[in-house]
Amino acid sequence: MSRRKIVAGNWKMNLELEEAAQWLSDVDAGLNSDQCDVLVFPSFILLPDLMDVYEGEQILFGAQNCSHKESGAYTGEVSAAQLASVGVEYVIIGHSERREHFGETNQMLKEKIQQALKNGMTPVFCCGEPLQVREEGKQQEYVKKQLTESVLGFSVAAMAEIIIAYEPVWAIGTGLNATTEQAQEMHAFIRSEIAAKYSNELAQQIPILYGGSCKPDNAKELFTCNDVDGGLIGGASLNAKDFLAIVQSA
Ligand code: PGA
Repeated sequence: MSRRKIVAGNWKMNLELEEAAQWLSDVDAGLNSDQCDVLVFPSFILLPDLMDVYEGEQILFGAQNCSHKESGAYTGEVSAAQLASVGVEYVIIGHSERREHFGETNQMLKEKIQQALKNGMTPVFCCGEPLQVREEGKQQEYVKKQLTESVLGFSVAAMAEIIIAYEPVWAIGTGLNATTEQAQEMHAFIRSEIAAKYSNELAQQIPILYGGSCKPDNAKELFTCNDVDGGLIGGASLNAKDFLAIVQSA
């Protein structure tokens, strides 16, 4: 079966309001409808303004994180309900930078997914192994644990709403992307874990994106892998031209 491709830009803590608005107009002008789903993940603070100024329909908006708590005395946090209330439809959950710098655990990520789903947002759940684990050849075990503890306990209906992004930590921001063999092998593994827990039918529906130094010059190759359904793009998403080139590869 053919799944629709998705290309998503994760801006991380980059771009200020004017640059971001310019990016939207440049990217929108370069898109031709119906090629693939195009998502962008700006910082929280920019989201309402950008969604307001953006008049097109081809770019969908998501947040880079949400709280695992529903509401209350959690200074500095942003809840899934607050994001949904301003019209945000997607949210990245469990990016490796959040796991590493902000101590996010698999259990917290499960709660974040619950919050996102409860508020009608699509979680983009990130998983992926650090370099040392890859060198020991234990990457499948590692990713399986991330999936099991955060994702694979949900109902079929909930699972059907989730997008997964495989982002090997050693490839993020390093310029060293996974090879097509490495990406395909892990994506197929993730899909097989979903099939084993749920059904092959469900596993075949779930988009699994690749992230980690995906660029205009390697995107096409990566996206031709059977189980790679597009990309979560960091550095190369900041430049509208590069991002468009990646979208064109999907
Ligand atoms: P990168 O980041 O494309 O800069 O490697 C990907 C990501 O962190 O999502």
